[in-house]
Parts: sequence; C-alpha cells; structure tokens
Amino acid sequence: MDETRLGHYQLLRCLGEGGMGRVYLARDTQLERDVAVKVLAPELVGDRSLMARFRVEAIAQARLSHPNIVPIYTFGREAGAYVIVMEYVAGRTLKQLIRDEGKLDPDRALRIAASVLDALAFAHARGVLHRDIKPANIFVSDDGTVKVGDFGIAKVEGLDGLTRVGTVLGTPHYSSPEQIRALKATPATDVYALSVTLFEMLTGVLPFGASGGSDLDVLTGHLEQVPPAPSSLCPGLPSGLDAVIARGLAKKPEDRYRSAAEYRQAIDAVLQARETPLPDFDRILQPLAQVPGRIRARLGRPSFELRQIPVRANTWWLLLLLIPLLLLLLALTVRCASDGPAAQAGEVPARLCALAPIGGLGRAAGFQASIMS
Ligand SMILES: Nc1ncnc2c1ncn2[C@@H]1O[C@H](COP(=O)(O)OP(=O)(O)O)[C@@H](O)[C@H]1O
Ligand SMILES: [Mg+2]
Repeated sequence: MDETRLGHYQLLRCLGEGGMGRVYLARDTQLERDVAVKVLAPELVGDRSLMARFRVEAIAQARLSHPNIVPIYTFGREAGAYVIVMEYVAGRTLKQLIRDEGKLDPDRALRIAASVLDALAFAHARGVLHRDIKPANIFVSDDGTVKVGDFGIAKVEGLDGLTRVGTVLGTPHYSSPEQIRALKATPATDVYALSVTLFEMLTGVLPFGASGGSDLDVLTGHLEQVPPAPSSLCPGLPSGLDAVIARGLAKKPEDRYRSAAEYRQAIDAVLQARETPLPDFDRILQPLAQVPGRIRARLGRPSFELRQIPVRANTWWLLLLLIPLLLLLLALTVRCASDGPAAQAGEVPARLCALAPIGGLGRAAGFQASIMS
C-alpha cells in the first residue's frame, strides 16, 4: 500500500497524534480540496469497543453542523483503514496559540470562550457532551474563527450502549471533579473544562498544577482546592471576571452556570462593560468651570474629585441621571443670585437664569457675572 495515499486521499503531512491514531493533512484528489483525515491506529482495528468509540466520535460531529464546530465530511473504511474525514482548519490549536503567544489579550480570550460556549450550547441541545474541552481540541483558524474538534470521548444521547459510561477521563488538567470521581457527566462538565481553558487563556497558567506537581496533585486540586483568582495572577483583568470564572470552576456541578448559554451571557456582560465607554466627565462638567467665582464660592469647593470616584461602567447611567438634578440645583442657585442686589436694581432679568438648564448655563451665568462685576 502506498504509505502516502489512502484511496483518493493523498496524505501530505501528519498534523497530530493521539490515543486513537493520527490526523493527517490530506488532499482529496476527487474534490480537489485539502481535508484533515483521522486514521484509526491499525493496531486498534479489531478492538470492538474502540472501533465503536471511533464511530461515536464521527456520529457526534456529524450531528453538529455549527460554525464553531469542525464539520465532518465522511466516516468509514478507506483502503482498509478506518477514517474520519473532516474540514482542515488552517491555523493553530488554542494550545499552540497559548504556547506561541503566552496569555492572551482578555477581550480575545473572552471572545474565544464565547465561541466555544456557542458550540457547546448547540451540542448540548442536541444531546452531545464533549467531555474533553481543552486548548488542544479548540482550533483557531488563520481568519480568527474558533472551532471545537476532537469529539473522541463525546457522549451522545441514544448511543449509551456503545460507550463505557463513567470510565472516561480527559486530560487531568481540564477534568471536572465529577469526571475524576467517575460520576455522570452533564453539560456542567464541559462548562468546568472551558473555565479551566479560559483561566489558562487569561493568565497563561493552569488553575491547578501550574507550578508542576504530579497528576495526583492536579486531581486533588480539582477536587479540594479553591482556584486562585485570575486577577491575583494578572492584575488589571476586567472586573467581574474573577467571579465569572469562580462560578465556572465550582466543585459542585449545580453551583456552576446552568447552561453554556447562561455562561455565554455572563461573558457577554463582561465584554459589554468593557466596550461601553465611561462618560466623559471633563466634557459633561465643562459648564461648571465657567460658573463665576462668586457662585462657586456659594456652592463651596467640591470635597472630592469626581474622576477619582470608582465608577463601574454598568452604573454610569445612574450618574447621568444625577447630572440633570445637578443642573437644576445650579439653576436655582443662579436664580437666587439674580434675586440679590443686582437684580433688585433691575440690571439682570431673572428669566435669563431660567435658560440655564437648557444648555446655556455657562453662558447665562457668565453674562450675569459680567454685568454684576
Ligand atoms: N480538522 C483539523 N484541522 C487541522 N488540524 C487538526 C484537525 N483535526 C485534528 N488536527 C490536529 O491533530 C491533532 C490531534 O487531533 P485530535 O482530533 O485532537 O485527536 P486526538 O484524539 O489525537 O487528540 C490536533 O491537536 C490538531 O493539531
Ligand atoms: Mg485531541
């Protein structure tokens, strides 16, 4: 048999190797396009249980036509080998990306996590649990598209007879407490693994076993230890992220997000808070700078610097509500001033001051001050 050819697939190079076999970049000579071909290791052909698992992997992927999931083209025998033929994702795995670039920009990390969560929400709704979410199984194409692949230990509803439920464990570093305890996997299992992945994207290290240690130490960490807050390792991360990740990494599945979709919403909220510009207080408070000294003296010096108040972006609208109130207060103050001696002398029509809240505050007040001085 030609080593570099499987039927009409021309094997170009090996992309990766795992427990089930090798994945090749190949040329589909009939359709004249590049594909990825996963070939079941020849020594496993005949192991009924592993062959069944290989089939479940193909069925899981075939059930999931989604922009964030690697599409499968075909499954079966090709020149005596068992193969899964799928889209070739030109790019890098997230694992390679983190290895090459270290921790990612938080926005980028959150967007990648959001795409994976979209894929998971879709898969869960169709009865598929991935159970092996980790950076090596997430592909980031050259154009930035994120695709989940390797459904090698997926659980597919309705195909339980083909899998040995409860005996499947992914990589220890991304394994949930329930997987370690060989308990039933649920959508929360994928939520946990994605949280470990997001932690790694944001900090460049894993929540457990970052400083070496045996697999047993890592597993004990997942079972018993409170993970560090990502911001304790990387100060300056978006506020709110620590809580989001802590919930995703909760030991009990029921304490995590109820669904991938809910998790995605929490991530969206963090992203939106970063995108919402804080109000420009300098510009908004500009009229204050023009209030004449006498009126400012009446108001008293502000005892704090507005810009120093820690303002959470999602509460800025509260401050916006306060601004009309502030303007009203100023208008009243100006009116009081106009009722003073100068007004009595008829030099300043009091109604001028009523214009103040309609945007002319600075000008009206300045005009009044120049008349009074
Ligand atoms: N569709 C694909 N496009 C590009 N590279 C792929 C594709 N599928 C797999 N690979 C590469 O092969 C490696 C192993 O594939 P994977 O499906 O994760 O199998 P395994 O069960 O061996 O982990 C991946 O980490 C990736 O580098
Ligand atoms: Mg893999």
